[in-house]
Amino acid sequence: MLVGILAILCLFLPAVIKIGHIELPDMPLLLAPMEDVSDPPFRHLCKKYGADMLYTEFISADGLIRDAEKSTKKLDIFDDERPVGIQIFGGDEDAMRRSAEIVEAAKPELLDINYGCPVKNVVCRNAGSGILRDIDKMVALTAAIVKSTNLPVTVKTRLGWDDNSIKIVEIAERLQDVGIKAISIHCRTKHQMYKGHARWEWLTKVKENQRLTIPVFGNGDVDTPEKAVDIVKKYGADGIMIGRASIGNPFIFREVKHFIETGTHLAPATLAEKLDACKTHLTRSIEWKGMRLGILEMRRHYGPYFAGLPNIKAYRQRLVTSEDVADIFATLDEIESVYADYVIYPRQTATPVYEGLDG
Ligand SMILES: Cc1cc2nc3c(=O)[nH]c(=O)nc-3n(C[C@H](O)[C@H](O)[C@H](O)COP(=O)(O)O)c2cc1C
Repeated sequence: MLVGILAILCLFLPAVIKIGHIELPDMPLLLAPMEDVSDPPFRHLCKKYGADMLYTEFISADGLIRDAEKSTKKLDIFDDERPVGIQIFGGDEDAMRRSAEIVEAAKPELLDINYGCPVKNVVCRNAGSGILRDIDKMVALTAAIVKSTNLPVTVKTRLGWDDNSIKIVEIAERLQDVGIKAISIHCRTKHQMYKGHARWEWLTKVKENQRLTIPVFGNGDVDTPEKAVDIVKKYGADGIMIGRASIGNPFIFREVKHFIETGTHLAPATLAEKLDACKTHLTRSIEWKGMRLGILEMRRHYGPYFAGLPNIKAYRQRLVTSEDVADIFATLDEIESVYADYVIYPRQTATPVYEGLDG
C-alpha cells in the first residue's frame, strides 16, 4: 500500500538527473567547455540566462602541475555560477592524477576529462581525442583519475577516432564501470573535426544499452529550441550540452527552457538586452583579466553578439580595434541608439533576422 502511494507521489515530483550527488532538473541544459570562451565572465551570463550546469574551458594537466599561471587562473570559480565542472586534458597518467588533486582543491562540483579535443598538438600527446585510438588506455587513465579524487568524475568525448572505429557504446559502458558519473558525447568522430553534422542517432544506441545507468548528455549542432528537444525526446539524451550557439547568445538557454516548458517560442532577446549582456561581459572580463587582456579577449565576442544587424561592420571594426574602454562603451551606446527601432524576428537558425527602417 505504502509503496503504491509512494509510486504515485513520484509521478508528480519533477524528475531530476543526478551526476553523483549533484541534482539537475529534468532535461538539463549544460554550457559546453570552450577554450577562450567558457571563462567566468561568459559563464556568469549563461548561468543568468538559464544554463543548469557549466564547464570551464579545458585546462592542461601539464600546465597545472607546473603551476603555470595561464592554467591555474582557469581554476577560478565563483559561487553564483555553481554547479561547475572543471575540465582537464592530458595524456600522461601521473600528470592527470596530480592535476586532479589540484582541481579538487579548487572545489568545483565535478571534474571532467577531455577525450574529445581534435587539435593536432593535443592529439599528438595522446590527449583529447588522441586517446580514442586506444580504448584500453582511456579506461585505465580514467580509472586512475577516479581513484585519485573525491570529486565526481565525468567525461566528454566523441563517437570514435574515425568512421571505421566508432566505439562510443563500448566506451560509455567501460567508463561507467570504472566509476565515471556522466558522459557528454559530441556526436562526431575525431576525423570529422567540425565537418558534416552531428550524428545523434549514436546517442540512441548508447542509451539502448541496458547496463548503462549514468546520464548521457547530447552535444553537437544544437542551435534551436526544436533541436534541443529532439536530442532528448527523439534520440534519448538525458540532457543537452550547448556550445557554439551560446556564443554571442547566452539567451539560448532561456529560449530552450521556455520551449521545453510551454512548447512555444520566447521572443528573442532584444538589442537592448544583447547590449546589456555585452557590456556586462566586457566589464567582468576586465575585472577578471585586467584592463588590457579583458579588452583584447572580448574582441572575438562582438561579431556573434551583433550578428545579423545590417551595416554593423563599421561599428564592429571600431569595437575590435579600440583599446580604450570608454571608447568601446561609447560605441556600444551608439549601436543602441542607431538600431533602436530595429525588430528582431524569431529565429529558425542560430543567426537572428533583423528588420529595420533601412534594413
Ligand atoms: C571555440 C571552441 C572551443 C572549444 N574548446 C573545448 C574545450 O576546451 N573542451 C572541450 O571538451 N570541447 C571544446 N570545444 C568543443 C565544444 O565543447 C563542443 O563539443 C562542440 O563545439 C560541439 O558542440 P556545439 O555544436 O554545440 O558547438 C570547443 C569548441 C569551440 C567552438
